[in-house]
Amino acid sequence: MLNRRITLQARPTGIPGPEHFAQDETPAGVPEAGEVLVETMYISIDPAMRSWIAQSSGYTRGVEIGAVMRAGGIGRVLTSRAEGFAPGDLVQGRTGWQSHPILRGRETQKLDLSVGSLEDWMGPLGTSALTAYFGLRDIGALKPGETLLVSAAAGGVGQLAAQIGLIEACHVVGIAGGPDKCRFLNETLGLHGAIDYKAENDLTGAIRRECTDGVDVYFDNVGGPTLDAALANLRTDARVAMCGRISQTVAPEPYGIRNLGMTGGRRITLRNFLVFDYHDRYPEARAWLAARIREGRLRQRLHIVEGLENAPRALGMLFTGENTGKLIVKAAD
Ligand SMILES: NC(=O)c1ccc[n+]([C@@H]2O[C@H](COP(=O)([O-])OP(=O)(O)OC[C@H]3O[C@@H](n4cnc5c(N)ncnc54)[C@H](OP(=O)(O)O)[C@@H]3O)[C@@H](O)[C@H]2O)c1
Repeated sequence: MLNRRITLQARPTGIPGPEHFAQDETPAGVPEAGEVLVETMYISIDPAMRSWIAQSSGYTRGVEIGAVMRAGGIGRVLTSRAEGFAPGDLVQGRTGWQSHPILRGRETQKLDLSVGSLEDWMGPLGTSALTAYFGLRDIGALKPGETLLVSAAAGGVGQLAAQIGLIEACHVVGIAGGPDKCRFLNETLGLHGAIDYKAENDLTGAIRRECTDGVDVYFDNVGGPTLDAALANLRTDARVAMCGRISQTVAPEPYGIRNLGMTGGRRITLRNFLVFDYHDRYPEARAWLAARIREGRLRQRLHIVEGLENAPRALGMLFTGENTGKLIVKAAD
């Protein structure tokens, strides 16, 4: 059996793409004690991958040149030498960009399909959903009736944050790029307002138009000028859940935030967070999310790119805004 692999060949300075990776086939490994051989089915494509392959990888160890690209995914166990795993089990783990990884049993989670479908485990029960849940509850401390503003609202994390805001009976406004994404926010998700930041000359004014009483919680997925415009619209005691800064990831020059001075007198809290720090509370979050999925109040639009070989191209889509939902690669049926 062959393992199709995609390895890192060069570190991008801008948007990553196929030119930074190579593809090959090697014999699939044989699991040792405590390991399983898996066939990869779905792979999550995440903005953090860009920092893993940059010169300085930031919060986590980077991917070495020549190594298989790191990624989380879902697959089917083919051979098991790990206690608790049997051939045919569906599992979630660090598959990487390869068709037949060897995974360590203790780092791999068996999926319970009575809780959600495979697609649910990649979407509204996956890491994006956990990020939205902890970012809004613990960092944003969102309360019913408040006004929630979400950027990259049509994306993986943003869609979930916006819907959790609706479930919590908040006034929810999303920011997204382009009329199609804004229509999705208004008509499919039912948000109270959607702002196409690419079509607005005055984003600060557009936020004021949609959030007339100001913003209580800003769930920030993008940083940069959007964060600045949001800061100008925050109410006293507002909270900013600083989830990510995708607008700055491939920007040639960092954007200098101008409106930080407004946050002092209004006693505003800006707080970064990493979802992995909440690992011990994932069961709590998944129980809540699964209940909302069953009630039909929470869903996620997935953007599925077919074929493992297209993973490098898919990664670039996050930075051009081409993805229209939680971005995943389908590696096998
Ligand atoms: N803190 C954590 O633990 C954690 C965990 C997971 C993800 N994150 C962060 O959450 C954010 C969203 O991640 P995701 O996986 O859900 O990705 P996503 O939102 O599905 O995709 C990225 C989106 O970002 C928007 N974007 C790209 N360049 C932009 C720019 N220059 N200005 C404004 N918007 C831009 C695009 O949407 P538009 O078409 O609307 O522009 C694009 O579709 C990222 O910042 C990521 O790093 C954080």
